[in-house]
Amino acid sequence: MNGKLSGVARSLLNPRTYAQAFRLLHFASYSHVQQVGRLNRGRDVTFAPNVSFRNAERITLGDGTHIGEQSIIWAGNSTGRVTLGEKCLLAPHVTITASNYGTVPGRFVMDQPKIERDIVIGRDVWLGANTVVLAGVTIGDGVVVAAGAVVTKDIPAGAIVGGVPARIIGWRGGSALAEEGAA
Ligand SMILES: CC(C)(COP(=O)(O)OP(=O)(O)OC[C@H]1O[C@@H](n2cnc3c(N)ncnc32)[C@H](O)[C@@H]1OP(=O)(O)O)[C@@H](O)C(=O)NCCC(=O)NCCS
Repeated sequence: MNGKLSGVARSLLNPRTYAQAFRLLHFASYSHVQQVGRLNRGRDVTFAPNVSFRNAERITLGDGTHIGEQSIIWAGNSTGRVTLGEKCLLAPHVTITASNYGTVPGRFVMDQPKIERDIVIGRDVWLGANTVVLAGVTIGDGVVVAAGAVVTKDIPAGAIVGGVPARIIGWRGGSALAEEGAA
């Protein structure tokens, strides 16, 4: 018990604790709070409070879409857009990024110009946990992306894809939207 108390005291007396708390607050502000107001979002869009957005003025979220916790949706710094259609379901830990660093040799990757390409995700798309969607990809309506997949190429409507890189592992058939006559 004494050991626990002295640990708490050490934390409270260490100025770095407060510096770190401030850094975390600042991070929450620039990666979420300040971004949310710049999103183009439809009705009834929901997301966890720790979803990380960048350049949210180039992110569009369709009606009823949900984004799970710890997900990352980064539009490009200058042109790359991310568009999600209505009623998409993003599980936790989904990463969608509309830019890549260049990879030419002889120059540090982080010093290379970024290459930005739009990402377009249709309606009624389910991205399983830990999905990564790379720049330039278009995902059709009703697609299911299995947990852990890395989507590097366009996916046709209704496909179920999985793996790294993601490949078609099945077909979903008509989506809920199609059955509702909304497609
Ligand atoms: C894609 C998914 C929906 C498929 O479920 P399912 O229709 O029940 O599929 P099955 O379990 O019958 O598997 C079908 C085939 O796909 C393969 N598969 C399933 N999940 C896979 C995955 N994540 N990555 C790669 N292959 C996968 C199976 O091995 C199987 O292959 P086989 O036919 O060669 O044996 C499911 O596996 C999945 O990944 N769900 C996401 C769960 C999630 O992220 N939840 C978070 C809450 S939103």
